[in-house]
Amino acid sequence: MNAYPELSPSPRTIMTPGPVEVDPRVLRAMSYPILGQFDPEFTALMNNTMGMLRELFQTGNQWAYPVDGTSRSGIEAVLTGLIEPGDRVLVPIYGRFGHLLVEIAERCGAEVSIIERAWGEVFDPQEVIDAIHREKPKLVALVHGETSTGRLQPLADIGRACREADVLLAVDAVATIGGVPVESDAWFLDAVIGGTQKCLSVPSGMSPITYNERAERKILTRKRVERGLRSGDADENAATGFRIQSNYLDLSQLQDYWSPARLNHHTEMTSMLYGLHEGLRILLAEGLTARFARHRLHEEALVAGITAMELPLYGDPSCKLPVVTCVAIPDGIDGESVRSMLLHRFGIEIASSFGPLKGRIWRIGTMGYSCSRKNVLHTLGAFEAVLARHGLKLPAGEAVQAALDVYDRHGAPV
Ligand SMILES: Cc1ncc(COP(=O)(O)O)c(C=O)c1O
Repeated sequence: MNAYPELSPSPRTIMTPGPVEVDPRVLRAMSYPILGQFDPEFTALMNNTMGMLRELFQTGNQWAYPVDGTSRSGIEAVLTGLIEPGDRVLVPIYGRFGHLLVEIAERCGAEVSIIERAWGEVFDPQEVIDAIHREKPKLVALVHGETSTGRLQPLADIGRACREADVLLAVDAVATIGGVPVESDAWFLDAVIGGTQKCLSVPSGMSPITYNERAERKILTRKRVERGLRSGDADENAATGFRIQSNYLDLSQLQDYWSPARLNHHTEMTSMLYGLHEGLRILLAEGLTARFARHRLHEEALVAGITAMELPLYGDPSCKLPVVTCVAIPDGIDGESVRSMLLHRFGIEIASSFGPLKGRIWRIGTMGYSCSRKNVLHTLGAFEAVLARHGLKLPAGEAVQAALDVYDRHGAPV
């Protein structure tokens, strides 16, 4: 007998800010037979994926393709490509993932300056614009949707100011892509990094990115340096070591691989790409506008239910991230015990938070395939029951009714 039991994961209702449930069509696509990476059927799949990613990112950029690895591989690839040692980089921080951008930028040798906002808030765009004029960075790196605090940073004015000042702008849209509008071209974003495991509802393991010609120019300058190094005639720049540090995440090599030249780099993740391709097909069939509206609808129902339970929402409501709802844990309630009971008795997973918010808030995601009426109603019903079981006095039965009222008001299909 095998000592290790066959894998049999429990079906869960996943209401976290990622990873979330995956559409069965995506899982099915991931079980298709393997194709060789230069098989014309596979290269056609690569090209189609690029086409769909351009629609997702709302861009006319030539370059839109996935980096293999979780979302931080996309972030590292973009920052490693765009930052040369000694470059000034500005990172506005309003939650945990701003700190990740700082850490990666520092590893790239950047001189990083930061501005900070209290967790639960975002920046008035003018604050960032003033800092750009003051610090004169070569690059601004900024999070669009902060999953740690459930906040959404408006980007359009910051993008315009960066373009006017000839500063590159790289945006972490890992949590927002596919659930909240991300208008790469209209907002003048030079590089945008997405994630698969959240609003796209594809398993974790790829990071779709896009970047424009301004970003490409910076990347290719460094490629020239690298070629100089290879051929032994290192020029002045090469001597100062400005070559892209990573081979795996070198965008100049990755874009050659994704171009018609198909210059071999790594072995593409066949089954992940099948999954991403199917996830994007599902997304485009739903339509971006309808998909964003669906995320708004279920957020509204969830918030109505939480409010009916008289639980306080965390953070500035004017910049709430539609796909993550943060709830303040009431005094005297053990947040982890509530999460554990939800998981083990109801099969529902919600998240806690990080750093200063650990033990203070729960985070409930409404992302992608998990963002459905069934999931919202089940979560509210179970949440109420678990909180009552923990001794919290709350208006019984009101949460689900409030959510149903929202659905009825919107005439959401039965
Ligand atoms: C806003 C944001 N950025 C970056 C990441 C890092 O993504 P990954 O864990 O896929 O590397 C996450 C993951 O939760 C995130 O929410």
